[in-house]
Amino acid sequence: MNMLDNKYHSSKICLGTWRMGGDVKPNPNNDDEKDIDAIKYAISKGISHIDTSESYADGKSELLVGEAIKKISRDKYFLATKVREYNLSYDSVISSCEKSLQRLNVPSIDLYYIHKQNPLIPIEETTRALNKLIDTGLIKHIGLSNVGIATIKKYSQLLNSPIYAVQNQYNLVCRESQRKGVTDYCKLSGIQFIAWRPILLSYPGVVDPYYHTGTYRLLDEMAKKYNKTNTQIVAKWLVQQDGVSIVFKSSNKEHIDEILDIENFKLSDSDWEILDKDFPVQKDLGCTADVYFELS
Ligand SMILES: NC(=O)c1ccc[n+]([C@@H]2O[C@H](COP(=O)([O-])OP(=O)(O)OC[C@H]3O[C@@H](n4cnc5c(N)ncnc54)[C@H](OP(=O)(O)O)[C@@H]3O)[C@@H](O)[C@H]2O)c1
Repeated sequence: MNMLDNKYHSSKICLGTWRMGGDVKPNPNNDDEKDIDAIKYAISKGISHIDTSESYADGKSELLVGEAIKKISRDKYFLATKVREYNLSYDSVISSCEKSLQRLNVPSIDLYYIHKQNPLIPIEETTRALNKLIDTGLIKHIGLSNVGIATIKKYSQLLNSPIYAVQNQYNLVCRESQRKGVTDYCKLSGIQFIAWRPILLSYPGVVDPYYHTGTYRLLDEMAKKYNKTNTQIVAKWLVQQDGVSIVFKSSNKEHIDEILDIENFKLSDSDWEILDKDFPVQKDLGCTADVYFELS
């Protein structure tokens, strides 16, 4: 365990569950056992932080997580889930949280995120509900997702407890959080920055989001140099950053092993910089929109 792990009680590599159980709706043909097995496997390998949302497969993903953890000792996993932007009124936050607890079948949630902002619901109402959930012990920590610095500051002013984590899209292509200083701000503020979609390099018009050999020469060269896969280089570029964790999804045990193996090598500082500066596609994809609050 490194210092970051000790501080945040969760690892730098977290398992996501978007597309476990379905996508927006449950998929009746989903291989539930495979998803449950993958979650159990990840926890058995030390990936304690499991990420879900009330909206993933309309709650089915939370049910699968609940099923996976039911025979595992509580100190072996850390559960994060999210309340959607259409449920941010006081009563809806409380009721969403209670429903998530039922689906996960646990007495408390370790990390409860606001999934996205909703300009139609006063933030004071949402934060009052979050403060209440902390006071009653139903949630242990609060997180924000898809936010910029102004939004983080506004929540900090209204919450009675510190913001624990910020979860934004961030990878070699999607650089908004880096360019707008969100990653640095989180590091300086002691907020865990968790990069969502760390593996898939998707953007409008992308030819191959899985970047098989031949998609990006730079990645192919780095993978060859370190004797690792392109995916491992992509994930390592993130995890090697101070204060940055990743949440990746996989229902495949070999893929989980492949991601865990990134702990066994290090990119040289100069290679990290080359990937940082020279990666050929770098875009803002709208994940840090501070649309509701002015910076003060
Ligand atoms: N806060 C938000 O708004 C937000 C938005 C989107 C996602 N998220 C969270 O972030 C998590 C990750 O994002 P994501 O699922 O969209 O993208 P991702 O983790 O970057 O990519 C997932 C895809 O990569 C594949 N994969 C995983 N490991 C691989 C490996 N070693 N080699 C090759 N392919 C591999 C997976 O397939 P297999 O299953 O076959 O391995 C899956 O198709 C989500 O599950 C969710 O928890 C949050």
